[in-house]
Order: sequence, then C-alpha cells, then structure tokens
Amino acid sequence: MFSKAAYFLTLLSLATTGAYQTCEVPFGGDGVDDTQGLNALLPNCSSDAAIVFKEGVTYNISTPVNFGNLSNVEIQFLGNLDLPKSIPYVQSLVNATTGGRLYWFTMQGTNITLSGNKQNSDQGWIDSYGIPWWQEAQYTQPLGGLANRPHGWSITANSSTVRYMKLRKPVAWSFSLTGNDNHVYGNKIDAAYDLDNPGVFPFNTDGYDIKGNNVLFENNWVFNGDDCVAVNSGNNITVKNMVCEGGHGASLSSGNGVSNVLFDNITSINSLYATRFKSSLNAVGNITNVTWSNIHVHNATFPIFATGVYYDQNTNRGRTPGVYPANSTATHIKNFSWINVTGTISDVYTGDGSCTTDPCWYYVANATNTAAITLQLLNGTATNIQIHNVNLKPVDGKGTPNVVCDPSSFTDGTDNLGFKCVNGPYVPN
Ligand SMILES: *[C@@H]1O[C@H](CO)[C@@H](O)[C@H](O)[C@H]1NC(C)=O
Ligand SMILES: *[C@@H]1O[C@H](CO)[C@@H](O)[C@H](O)[C@H]1NC(C)=O
Ligand SMILES: *[C@@H]1O[C@H](CO)[C@@H](O)[C@H](O)[C@H]1NC(C)=O
Ligand SMILES: *[C@@H]1O[C@H](CO)[C@@H](O)[C@H](O)[C@H]1NC(C)=O
Ligand SMILES: *[C@@H]1O[C@H](CO)[C@@H](O)[C@H](O)[C@H]1NC(C)=O
Ligand SMILES: *[C@@H]1O[C@H](CO)[C@@H](O)[C@H](O)[C@H]1NC(C)=O
Ligand SMILES: *[C@@H]1O[C@H](CO)[C@@H](O)[C@H](O)[C@H]1NC(C)=O
Ligand SMILES: *[C@@H]1O[C@H](CO)[C@@H](O)[C@H](O)[C@H]1NC(C)=O
Ligand SMILES: *[C@@H]1O[C@H](CO)[C@@H](O)[C@H](O)[C@H]1NC(C)=O
Ligand SMILES: *[C@@H]1O[C@H](CO)[C@@H](O)[C@H](O)[C@H]1NC(C)=O
Ligand SMILES: *[C@@H]1O[C@H](CO)[C@@H](O)[C@H](O)[C@H]1NC(C)=O
Ligand SMILES: *[C@@H]1O[C@H](CO)[C@@H](O)[C@H](O)[C@H]1NC(C)=O
Repeated sequence: MFSKAAYFLTLLSLATTGAYQTCEVPFGGDGVDDTQGLNALLPNCSSDAAIVFKEGVTYNISTPVNFGNLSNVEIQFLGNLDLPKSIPYVQSLVNATTGGRLYWFTMQGTNITLSGNKQNSDQGWIDSYGIPWWQEAQYTQPLGGLANRPHGWSITANSSTVRYMKLRKPVAWSFSLTGNDNHVYGNKIDAAYDLDNPGVFPFNTDGYDIKGNNVLFENNWVFNGDDCVAVNSGNNITVKNMVCEGGHGASLSSGNGVSNVLFDNITSINSLYATRFKSSLNAVGNITNVTWSNIHVHNATFPIFATGVYYDQNTNRGRTPGVYPANSTATHIKNFSWINVTGTISDVYTGDGSCTTDPCWYYVANATNTAAITLQLLNGTATNIQIHNVNLKPVDGKGTPNVVCDPSSFTDGTDNLGFKCVNGPYVPN
C-alpha cells in the first residue's frame, strides 16, 4: 500500500517539478575525446541530476571540462578518466589560457557531490600522467617544476561534498575548494614519489587548498610533494583522521582572515613538515584559534613548524634566511596550540627534493637536524602559543630533540608556551 502510494507520488512530482535525471556520459571509443559527449549533455544535466561516468569504461578527457553552474547534482566517477599524456599539448592549452592558470575541471554552484568508486577498487581513478612532468623538471631551469602546468580541480560551491575521489599522479595542484558548509571525505591523492630519488620530485602537488566556513575534512589520504592540506581562509574548519605522506604537511597557509581551525588525528609519514603555519614576510593580518592535536609523526624533518617570515627562495635568490630589515612586518597569531605530538624526527636524510636553491628555501638559521619545534616568529607577533605533550625523538635514536625559539616573539611572555624557549634542547615545563 505505502510503496504504491509513494510510487505514484514520485511519478507525480517528476511530472510536475521536472524529473531528477540520470545523465550517462557516453564513451566514444579509443582515441575519441569524451569531453565532447560530456559537454553536449551538460545543458540538460546541470540541476537535479546525476552525471555518471560508467563503471568499466576508461574515458579520454583530452580537453578541460567546465561543468558550469550546478545545483543538486551528483557527479559519479564510477569508471576511470584518462587525461592527456602529451606534455607539449597540455602546455599549449595552458599557454593559451588568460592568466596562465588552467584548471582541468571547473565547477561552481550549490549542493554538488563529487563521488568516486570504492576506495580499493581499480575503478574511479582519474589519471593525469604526471610522472613524465616530474621527471622532465629535473632538466628544466629554473628548477621547481615545468612551466605551463595545469591545475586539477576548481570547485567554488556551498553545501557540497567531495567523497571517495581518487586522483593518480597529478601534474601539479589537485583540489582548490572554495565555499561554505562543505564536506570532504574518503578521498585519495596519489602523487607518490620515490623518497630515495630526490631528483624526481612532484613539485607543487598540493592536495587541497581550502577557503570557506564550516568545512569538514575527514579520512582523506594524500601522498604528494607539497601541502597535504592547506587552509587558506575561513572560519570553523576541521581536518581530521588524515594520513599525509611525503610533502609539506597539514598546513595553515595564510596571512590573514583565518580562525577556529582544528587539525586532529593526523598521521604524517616521511614529510618535510608534519604540521606547519606559514605566512609571508611583511604580511599584515591576524590568525586566531588554531589547534593541531594528536599528531602521529613518522620521520618528519620539521614536525612542529611555524613561520611568519616565509619567502619564496626562487624569487628571492641571494637573500639570507633569518635576516630581515628592522621594519619587517608579519601576521599576528593568537591562541595556537599543538597538543599530543608524538613520533620521530628525520635526522638522517633531512629535507626533501623540493630544495633547488642554496641556501635551501627551508633552511632555518639555528635549527639542527633534530628540530622538534621550530618557531620563526618576529618580535611581538604571537600571543598565547601553547605546545604540550610533545614526545618526538630522532628517527635513528641518536641525539636529542631540539627547538628554535625566540622569547621576543611572544607578547605574553613564554610561561604558557610549555617548553623552554631557547635555541637548543627541547625541555618541557
Ligand atoms: C535535453 O532534454 C530534452 C528533453 O528530454 C531533449 O529533447 C533534448 O534533446 C536534450 N538536449 C540535449 C542536448 O541532450
Ligand atoms: C542535493 O542534491 C541531491 C542530488 O544530488 C538531492 O538528492 C538532495 O535532495 C539535494 N539536497 C538538497 C538539500 O537540496
Ligand atoms: C608556452 O609559453 C612559453 C612562454 O610563456 C614558451 O616558452 C613555450 O614554448 C610555450 N610552450 C608551448 C608548448 O606552447
Ligand atoms: C562548524 O562546522 C561544522 C562542520 O564541520 C558544523 O557542523 C558546525 O555546525 C559549525 N559550527 C558553527 C558554529 O557554525
Ligand atoms: C585516526 O585516523 C585514522 C585514519 O587515519 C583512523 O583509522 C583512526 O580511527 C582515527 N583515530 C581516532 C581516535 O579517531
Ligand atoms: C625518512 O625520510 C627520508 C626523506 O623523506 C627518507 O629518505 C628516509 O628513508 C626516511 N627514513 C625512514 C627511517 O623512514
Ligand atoms: C589585527 O588585529 C589588530 C588588533 O586586534 C587590529 O588592530 C588589526 O586591524 C587587525 N588586522 C587586520 C588586517 O584585520
Ligand atoms: C577564539 O576562541 C575564543 C574561545 O573559544 C573565542 O572567545 C573567540 O571568539 C575566538 N576568536 C575568533 C576570532 O573566533
Ligand atoms: C641564532 O641564535 C643566536 C643565539 O641564540 C641568535 O643571536 C641569532 O640571532 C640567531 N640567528 C637567527 C638568524 O635567528
Ligand atoms: C622597510 O624600509 C625599506 C627602506 O626604507 C623599504 O624599502 C621597505 O619597503 C620597508 N619595508 C616595509 C615592510 O615597510
Ligand atoms: C591528548 O592525549 C591524551 C591522552 O591520550 C587525551 O586524554 C587527550 O584528550 C588528548 N588531548 C587532545 C586535545 O586531544
Ligand atoms: C621587540 O619590540 C619591542 C617593542 O617594540 C622592543 O622594546 C624590544 O626591544 C624588541 N626586542 C627585540 C629583541 O628586538
């Protein structure tokens, strides 16, 4: 009785309000650019629809896709997507783009769901064939990645979800996610590289760049060569239960306008940084209420790291790290805490393949190879910083964990800090 009534009600609502459509992306066959078929169906499938990349198919997505403005749309990546393998072809597309920034996938709207296939399935992979780009970067000057690299995904949306997506070998940046009330979970980004061959390094393969309010990230996995996740602006952002391998860690990367951020239960494996706050030298602004808790560190060069004086070594060649003019400014940070940070410091093979300058961009004056805590904060730019329950040991069991810390950084003194503020051994108090 009930189900029959529901059935007729459903038919009625379909007839009156416009049906929820399922739009299957047609597969054109070998050598056919499936973007054309996809573009043809988009005008009819941009609201109240599922756009389905079929399981068992490997689509050729040879040109960038602009999904346009979507509402109440779920895009299901059940099959695989192959992006083009020719570097000059892709570079020429990026060259032709105004401003030189090309995203391979672009969309905006409300209530968009990107949905991949099961995490352990061989279906649902989006393969960008980035390895040749990483390899060729070794022979290209200036070092640090090829010119004209495409970005991955630009999603500007509210009340939206990214789940179970699987990206393989991105050329460079993966997700740029802007908007409020978004939920990102169960995704994999595989820009895995050979730790023992630093010459081939996946430059700028940031996992997620996040802007927005009320954003929740959970159970994501990233192996890459830049920020695992970088929070850039917004309020009330939680990143939890995440695994970050290689790369530059769970980052807050911003000079202003970020508050109430929690990074919790992050496992960091063979990373340059496990946790990082980064703001550029001469930034002006405030960042408030940021916590990194329950951080499980395996072999990080800089497990706990904060800098208000970041500058790009590539564009500041010749500048001496650690030496700043007296009138330098920096972002003011307030109520930052690191609680329960345990594991090992990489003291045998420190750093990573992102170092292409001398001195290296991540060189820190006064840091040793066992830098448990490194705070590069200008005079009077930090208030209420607390770092408690730290248990970090050199990975080879030799030496002691050290800290870099300048008492003048803190407007409220060093009593709250949780350890002795010196350039020297870590001594909790
Ligand atoms: C859009 O849907 C309408 C109605 O179902 C159909 O007539 C039309 O051919 C479709 N257009 C495209 C581009 O698929
Ligand atoms: C969001 O979109 C889905 C379809 O992807 C739909 O089932 C759901 O009702 C929408 N939610 C809201 C709040 O409109
Ligand atoms: C792209 O543009 C750069 C200059 O910005 C040029 O050196 C390069 O040859 C161009 N590459 C392609 C494939 O068009
Ligand atoms: C903060 O964001 C979470 C989602 O992570 C949401 O559930 C919660 O309601 C937000 N809190 C406020 C005060 O908006
Ligand atoms: C921490 O995150 C991992 C996934 O990285 C998860 O398996 C584990 O259950 C989480 N622990 C807690 C206490 O939530
Ligand atoms: C620590 O990390 C470095 C650099 O990523 C790597 O070369 C080394 O093998 C790692 N050591 C261990 C013990 O995992
Ligand atoms: C930062 O906070 C200070 C003190 O509350 C305030 O004077 C200043 O305007 C703020 N700066 C920005 C860029 O919001
Ligand atoms: C920071 O947290 C405190 C205590 O929870 C709260 O009173 C304050 O409003 C927060 N600051 C911002 C900028 O949200
Ligand atoms: C290094 O440490 C010494 C002694 O603590 C200090 O005088 C010097 O300013 C530090 N150098 C830098 C660049 O921080
Ligand atoms: C510091 O002073 C120098 C010399 O007057 C000037 O060139 C520079 O712009 C100033 N920097 C800042 C951040 O004000
Ligand atoms: C730190 O770890 C202790 C012991 O495991 C736990 O009781 C406490 O809740 C943790 N603190 C935070 C902020 O998660
Ligand atoms: C820090 O700034 C304060 C106030 O401007 C000044 O009195 C003090 O000498 C400075 N300390 C250092 C170590 O530069």
